[in-house]
Amino acid sequence: MTFNQLQIPTLSDAELEAAIVEHNQKYWELNEPEITDAEFDLLVRELTARKPDSPVLARVPTSTITGDKVRHGAPMLSLDKCYSAEELDRWFARIEGAAIATQKIDGLAVSLRYDGAGRLALAATRGDGETGELVTANMLMVGGVPSQVAAANIEVRGEAFMPVSTFNTRYAEAFANPRNLAAGALKQKDPAKTEAYGLHFLAYDLQGDPTVATEAEEMERLRALGFTVSPYLVCEREEGQRSFEALAATRVELDYETDGIVFKVNNLAVQHGLGNTAHHPRGAIAYKYQGESGLSELTGIEWSVSRTGAINPVALVAPVFLSGVTVSRVSLHNLSIMSKLAGEAPLAVGAQVAVTRRGGVIPHIESVLRPGTGELLLPPATCPSCGAATEVREDVLVADHAATCTGAASRRLLHVASALDLDGFGPKLIEQLFAAGLLAEPADFYTLTAERLRTLDRLGDKTAANLLASIEARRTLRFASFLNALGAPEVGEQLSRDLEANFESLNGLLDANADQLTAIAGVGPRVSASILAFVAEHRPWIERLAACVTLTWPPKSAAVGPLAGKKFVFTGSLASMSREAAQEQVRALGGATPSGVSGEVDFLVVGDADYDKMVAGKVSSKLKKAISLREAGGRILIVPERDFLPMLTPDSPSA
Ligand code: IVH
Repeated sequence: MTFNQLQIPTLSDAELEAAIVEHNQKYWELNEPEITDAEFDLLVRELTARKPDSPVLARVPTSTITGDKVRHGAPMLSLDKCYSAEELDRWFARIEGAAIATQKIDGLAVSLRYDGAGRLALAATRGDGETGELVTANMLMVGGVPSQVAAANIEVRGEAFMPVSTFNTRYAEAFANPRNLAAGALKQKDPAKTEAYGLHFLAYDLQGDPTVATEAEEMERLRALGFTVSPYLVCEREEGQRSFEALAATRVELDYETDGIVFKVNNLAVQHGLGNTAHHPRGAIAYKYQGESGLSELTGIEWSVSRTGAINPVALVAPVFLSGVTVSRVSLHNLSIMSKLAGEAPLAVGAQVAVTRRGGVIPHIESVLRPGTGELLLPPATCPSCGAATEVREDVLVADHAATCTGAASRRLLHVASALDLDGFGPKLIEQLFAAGLLAEPADFYTLTAERLRTLDRLGDKTAANLLASIEARRTLRFASFLNALGAPEVGEQLSRDLEANFESLNGLLDANADQLTAIAGVGPRVSASILAFVAEHRPWIERLAACVTLTWPPKSAAVGPLAGKKFVFTGSLASMSREAAQEQVRALGGATPSGVSGEVDFLVVGDADYDKMVAGKVSSKLKKAISLREAGGRILIVPERDFLPMLTPDSPSA
């Protein structure tokens, strides 16, 4: 059938499909094209617009060549991405059945087209997804690319890469990374030059073979045809995270760089049925490794006593440079995380660990890649600070020492000093004061005198005067600051402000019952029980501290609204609105929008594009400041625009 372009819209869907199959065959198999590439393109576009799920589009590769450019038959899309078990689980909830999990190879996507005789007829780079570059002769010089296969009219997609071993032995000194080098190697005019770089190809997609029904079958078929495929797992929803971890743990053994694990619906009919968004298939997702990651070695675990008396593990690792900072201490949070990392065997000195920065910021140990052979790192039987016997309670190492332990007490006092902005009271001074018996509980800050301070070694008159002045300046305290300074486990700055808004006196709060507490938005039974327990245990010193200060409440007319008391700073350009519009909306909801980052700021909102760049290591000066504040224990949260937008509609279910 031939036609002129004007006829195309008058064809029925079935006629369009038939025409594509027919002309595709004439072009590829018979080598007798009857219509121009442009006309063929129009047919494909028309069908894509009318019937994007047409099996003809999915099954029949229809790439067209113009000069050294190749228009991909089916566009080479990118993958939606996620970073956590929760997000992966949400993806699983949207799909049906099992998924295949495979390595996400950090190379260059390439499409290989084999003709009716099974010969490699065309190889093209991904380019912009629609049009790539013709690299057939060069791909024939790449390992793992058969020039002939026992199949007709198939398209194989996969990733070309430079093996890490090749890069390390030959190029590491002069080049930044294997990926850029591989890109250059593929672009060579002379295929012999490409060959010299020693690239390889791993296949992950096969189109045009109607005999395969699942991704797993597809992988086996690719293997049978002579391609190399990376290891994969087929898993159900419940096993998603475990499969991610299992494949992630093999990362170091691979001779190629990976940046995550790709999950795809295993059943191909179901996967194709889910269709595509403009950018990615709904039936697949890339679960990416967080931020920049690096390998390091565990040198020990520091058990540090928190102000609640819990003894928390902090991993000490050989310094590793990640997204612009050197990381050497990584919190392990609690014992369950520690045992989860360690798997069957306990952690030992010398273990090789993958360290990342969660959200590009918070240091985190992702996995243990090789067990250590040194000393075993077990939770201590006694508190490292006071020697009290420890026990494990709900994954937390505790001891009955909160009131007596120097470590816990000085942490508590340090928290009070920093929450109240008592300048000059750092960890060393506080420990000294505690040891000298001058500072046993928070109220003691207010009973310090020049004479008492003078009894400390090496503390000059000037310093003593400054310390006392900073205390005098904090004799009048906003109720919320006072509450925050108490350091009750669940009561941070926000809840302190909520409590302030709901209680007009300290005794009103100290005498409150569970019903009164749970009536406050955001306070459930757990938080309420924790507050009640804290008051029951600590009331005496809380009252002694209150006796030293004057408490004040802000006037009721103060900013109200869901963002009241919250400070937002913006960096980068937002995709959804101008920065000014965003600031206006925050203020309309009661929040404040100072211009620069400081310790007072709650959120640094980063435009989505810049957030992704940040994760890749590019940071603005506002970001740098925010990251260092955060690392110093500040409250500032660095959030991408996509997480900020729901805050503007606090009643919507996604907020
Ligand atoms: S499936 C929609 N599987 O990641 C494309 N892609 O962000 C579905 N990639 O350009 C491709 N390893 O080149 C798939 N095992 C794998 C992959 C993989 C790397 C690349 C692919 C694509 C990019 C998507």
